[in-house]
Amino acid sequence: MMRAQPAAIPTEPPDAEAAPAAEADRRAGILIVDDDPRNRLALAEILSDLGEELVQAGSGEDALRQLLRRDFAVVLLDVNMPVLDGYETAALIRRRQRSRNLPIIFLTAYSKDDAQISRGYLAGAVDYVFKPIDPVILRSKVAVFVELFKKTEEVKRKSEAERQLQLENLRVETERRKIEQQLFQAQKMEAVGQLTGGIAHDFNNMLTVVIGHLNLLKRAVKNDPKLVDRAQAALQGAMSCAELTRRLLAFSRQQPLQPKAVELGALLSTMADLLRRTLGESIAIDVKLAPNVARVFVDPAQLESALLNLALNARDAMPEGGRLRLMAENRIVRPHGRSPFDVPPGAYVEISVSDTGTGMSEETLRRAFEPFYTTKPVGQGTGLGLSMIYGFAKQSGGDVRIESQAGEGTNVRLLLPKTDSAIEAPALPAEAPSPQPGAAERVILAVEDDAAVRGVAVTTLRELGYNVIEAPDAVSALEILREGRHVDVLFTDVAMPDGSGVDLAREAQRLNPTMRVLYTSGYSTDWQEAGMSGDLLPKPYHDAELADALRRILG
Ligand SMILES: Nc1ncnc2c1ncn2[C@@H]1O[C@H](COP(=O)(O)OP(=O)(O)OP(=O)(O)O)[C@@H](O)[C@H]1O
Ligand SMILES: [Mg+2]
Repeated sequence: MMRAQPAAIPTEPPDAEAAPAAEADRRAGILIVDDDPRNRLALAEILSDLGEELVQAGSGEDALRQLLRRDFAVVLLDVNMPVLDGYETAALIRRRQRSRNLPIIFLTAYSKDDAQISRGYLAGAVDYVFKPIDPVILRSKVAVFVELFKKTEEVKRKSEAERQLQLENLRVETERRKIEQQLFQAQKMEAVGQLTGGIAHDFNNMLTVVIGHLNLLKRAVKNDPKLVDRAQAALQGAMSCAELTRRLLAFSRQQPLQPKAVELGALLSTMADLLRRTLGESIAIDVKLAPNVARVFVDPAQLESALLNLALNARDAMPEGGRLRLMAENRIVRPHGRSPFDVPPGAYVEISVSDTGTGMSEETLRRAFEPFYTTKPVGQGTGLGLSMIYGFAKQSGGDVRIESQAGEGTNVRLLLPKTDSAIEAPALPAEAPSPQPGAAERVILAVEDDAAVRGVAVTTLRELGYNVIEAPDAVSALEILREGRHVDVLFTDVAMPDGSGVDLAREAQRLNPTMRVLYTSGYSTDWQEAGMSGDLLPKPYHDAELADALRRILG
């Protein structure tokens, strides 16, 4: 049959490709099943005006195959077909869950008797059309089912869109809650950090006095072993206190750090050797270093202490043994990338410590970095290990994250800033304090506002054989220097009420350029804010460490 063509072909819209495709998607399928191709052709001709997609099948089996491929709005089914007749085909169609409610219209030339018709309805027909077919009636019957199908599809699409919207809302809400919680957690950590930092700072000054005097006392009673033991026991107690204070300062990001370029390959393999000796045979330890891992800029002693703490946590989580893995690889944090770490964009190295242990509950995971949060029995954990690592990572310009699930092991990821600078020679180990050779010719100017701390420093320096001049503040220290007194080393506190040790040192070195400077501090803030480099002796210090620092400076 010829059809009138439109006079002019309309120009295609710009998205000509997308539009008809979407339209085609919305077209309903009509399945025409008849073994006689002429009948199929005639039916297709009648229905083509509906503008829907017509699919032809030459047998019952073929129809079933088509039904597996897609959904149809309606099936026109010839009753008399060889092999599978229309009724049998309809029964099979009804048996499948997906096509159970598919409208079927039977087409028949001969079966006009009632018995045949009721067999058709039993087989699931929704309508009967007798040949010869009236095109208008057939078209309008099919159109009703097509309309119904389209409405149902529309409802389905809408409810799917609604479901998607609800899911999206839920996702946004969950994300918002997560961010809120993270913020709350960060604020809490900040507040606790300030509190602990303040306490720890005061403790440090007092401990410097206690430890210093105990050291002096121990030496003064060296002929009485009993008294030496007592002094030693007291010293031990004070040192544990100092260790606790150090951890608190570490958490509040105020421990004096001495960052340098650190090669991770060497550090991690030394660490692994140490751990193999200490953790026992039931824990397998492996180190995986990605190729070309960069150097990091951190305090190596603190990094070792962090890794040791993580390894001990892992050991505690694997009482039956397991595997501990240390890994390092380079990481780039991009400006608007999706990094789990809260750090400025730049080049970093990620060190991860993972275990196959018990993992953490949700609550533990949320609170693990809080100081004093521990799930271990009294006396077995202070709950400061991870807090210290958190403070250390943040203070070093990096970050730390934990991934863990109960029963699934734990992975702690430490992100540290990369550096391109070369490695410095390692420092000499501390030696037992005794009068230093040549010390008598050296003059040390000790500046410290806390009289008790100054007292113990001066006594210790004198015991080491140095000539000591003392000053309670920066102003009097400068007066001494302006008088023209010779000074080899300025040993000064960093933070003093009348001015910073850093400014004092600058002025002092202007007056006397050959003079060396050794800073001491229990608080790293001023030191780091001033962007200073130089020698720093963290408080509280042992006499051996003071002796060592001076020997190094005086070279
Ligand atoms: N690798 C791990 N696997 C499972 N749980 C862990 C792991 N590391 C830490 N935890 C959990 O986090 C808590 C806090 O750890 P953190 O290291 O801060 O303190 P601690 O180990 O309990 O005590 P401390 O380290 O001060 O001796 C632990 O008590 C433990 O419940
Ligand atoms: Mg721990």
